[in-house]
Amino acid sequence: MARSVRLVPALTAVPVALALTACGGVHGTPGGSGVRDPYFPKAGNGGYDVTHYGLRLDYDRDAHHLTGTATVTARATKALSAFNLDLVGLDVGKVTVGGETARWNRAGQELTVRPGEDIDRDETFRVTVHYSGAPETVTDPDGSQEGWLRTSDGALALGEPTGSMAWFPGNHHPSDKASYDLTVTVPQGLRAVSNGELRSERTERGRTTFVWRTAEPMASYLATLAIGDFGISRSTARDGLPVYTAVDPAEKEGSRAVLARIPEVLRWAERRFGPYPFSSTGVIVDRAADIGYALETQSRPVFPGAPDMTLLVHELAHQWYGDSVSPESWRDMWLNEGFATYTEWLWEEDHGDETAQETFDALYDHGEKTYEDLWSFPPAKPVDAAHISRAPVYRRGAMVLHKIRRTVGDEAFGDILRGWAADRRHGNADTADFTAYVEEQAPGKDFDGIWEDWLYGEGKPERA
Ligand code: TRP
Ligand code: ZN
Repeated sequence: MARSVRLVPALTAVPVALALTACGGVHGTPGGSGVRDPYFPKAGNGGYDVTHYGLRLDYDRDAHHLTGTATVTARATKALSAFNLDLVGLDVGKVTVGGETARWNRAGQELTVRPGEDIDRDETFRVTVHYSGAPETVTDPDGSQEGWLRTSDGALALGEPTGSMAWFPGNHHPSDKASYDLTVTVPQGLRAVSNGELRSERTERGRTTFVWRTAEPMASYLATLAIGDFGISRSTARDGLPVYTAVDPAEKEGSRAVLARIPEVLRWAERRFGPYPFSSTGVIVDRAADIGYALETQSRPVFPGAPDMTLLVHELAHQWYGDSVSPESWRDMWLNEGFATYTEWLWEEDHGDETAQETFDALYDHGEKTYEDLWSFPPAKPVDAAHISRAPVYRRGAMVLHKIRRTVGDEAFGDILRGWAADRRHGNADTADFTAYVEEQAPGKDFDGIWEDWLYGEGKPERA
């Protein structure tokens, strides 16, 4: 997108800006180093909204060297004299804004960019960052590993909650979603697999370049890149929805039966939740990563080994809840995990296993034997950043949904699940948005006790 028309040529911009300031005219201020997330205050940045990431990467596994050019297109939400991007590790070379060299400096995860002239409010601008170096693995507050993970045959990039800043500069907070074009060059023989659709693949002089596109808005923590030796399979699910799976050869046999059921899970989920929200699907199975968790990376979840049905169902459920409807902040994590966990219960109920009621009852009666911290904090208020992936968020979050179902009945509950996914499709929502939505859908029902005791209340709630 073009920058908006300037009143004066760039060379005279500084004195003119001063003159405007002197007579009370508009001038920019710095954008801010975070969006005040209650758990990750430095994540994301103020003053702009990213619409598109164009990333060109080149990775040499043996040298553990990443070379990147990130072209970030954004719209200013206020007049900006400077703005920040989040980036950890790596060396920054040149930065340009609107094609002009910009000044920059770094402090921690903040890359502050000072364009030669202020950016107007509502102006669409384009910043290009050239960078390189050895990308880092990030250890989360809860001890899990993300960011750039080296594997025996390549690398795996994962971003929940803050790891994406280890491989590209951006507005790394789930509230700012954007489309992506990713061009990755790796040594011939290796593959690069990402979100969305593979647009082209070309080998020249011993290097292969893969071009991936994600057209639907994506939160940056859901971006992934897997480099390595993968068995690729392409098929289609309903109406020709492309299914692209990349499986570590060591996990091929073990994952065949479960992965063959992707179309069936999607059909079932579409009946329960409404249309699948993205233009392709699939999985990445990468044993080499050794991370111990799966992640719902958009359109193509990552598994650290052959998944079982429950885990496949969980990560595909996130495509509706988490990926299409994304949390407004990391406090709203239960809107991801409570829904994905409840989907496991629904799948079991619909396939002749325990009913969701039975799962709820067993958890209520002796859940703390399996999840010792189950009653230690409410789903909508994790104690701190180290607790956003704990049992109260997942299990007790699912129990909140079951309480809603019992209050409104199965049919209205189905409408709420589908309606919520449709209403907030490709957007963001927080807990208050959800409770308001439920109340709106079921006028005359009383949810106060559920919200007060189950969603926000400390301690183990009364069963009824
Ligand atoms: N959000 C992932 C899922 O539910 C799991 C996950 C990602 C996780 N990072 C984590 C779990 C860190 C524990 C710790 O599918
Ligand atoms: Zn999950």
